[in-house]
Amino acid sequence: MADKIKAQWEANAEFFAKLIGSRGTPHHRMILNPCIESLLGDVDGKRLLDAGCGEGYLSRYFAEQGAIVVGVDISPNLIEICKEKTEGRENPRYNVGNICDLNGFEDGYFDLVLCNLVLLNVPCLTGALDEFHRILKKDGSLVFSIVHPAFNFYGPGTWEMGEKDPETNRRIGLYFKIDNYLEEKAYEKYWRSREGEKFPQPITFYHRTLSTYIDAILNSGLDIQTFREPAPITDDSFFEREQRIPFFAVFKVGK
Ligand SMILES: C[S@@+](CC[C@H](N)C(=O)[O-])C[C@H]1O[C@@H](n2cnc3c(N)ncnc32)[C@H](O)[C@@H]1O
Repeated sequence: MADKIKAQWEANAEFFAKLIGSRGTPHHRMILNPCIESLLGDVDGKRLLDAGCGEGYLSRYFAEQGAIVVGVDISPNLIEICKEKTEGRENPRYNVGNICDLNGFEDGYFDLVLCNLVLLNVPCLTGALDEFHRILKKDGSLVFSIVHPAFNFYGPGTWEMGEKDPETNRRIGLYFKIDNYLEEKAYEKYWRSREGEKFPQPITFYHRTLSTYIDAILNSGLDIQTFREPAPITDDSFFEREQRIPFFAVFKVGK
């Protein structure tokens, strides 16, 4: 499975990097980035692993804030793009690697682990959390985000958009319809930009319930410190759906 997932991200690397740009998609910028930043807190001087770093925008951002960052990703093409975008600077550093097995890193090496929108793409939820527990220092923290499994239109749900109220311009009857939330499974979907552009290859997603995530965290020996369902930091109607129903779920867990 790891080979297949790697091949999908290899094929999607260039398209993904273009979509992310320099600070992420509007969803990253207006919803996730502020939440992650507030949960990580002051990163200055801290060793931070960006686990599943993609094209590396978070690695670059937190390095600029003073963290000593290592980005790891399964896709050599994405790591190549990370290096190009870092333009020869030594921080962040990047390695091709698999978050299911981080044996290149010593126990207790990192103060912080960030894993942004990756755990829903890996088969090894418990293996990755065990590894994060191992490589974190005592009192270190892991911040990870997923697409909210209860409201994921790549997974068990879909949107019913309803009509716009001509007076308020707000939609009436904007619903998220969900079925088979309790059925955990892997599935493949083509990711599309909001404008409808389709990725070259489908991506493998793992639908898991929130209780599975919580059990996996606790079984790894980590403690849940905070759970957030962040709202957009803007009232722009582009985010009308996300202003009503959370698109992401974000955990801060500690060792
Ligand atoms: C949705 S992207 C998120 C990338 C980045 N964290 C961000 O927020 O832009 C998921 C990333 O996880 C990486 N990935 C998937 N499985 C992985 C694994 N087992 N180990 C490391 N990276 C993995 C993919 O190559 C891809 O870059």
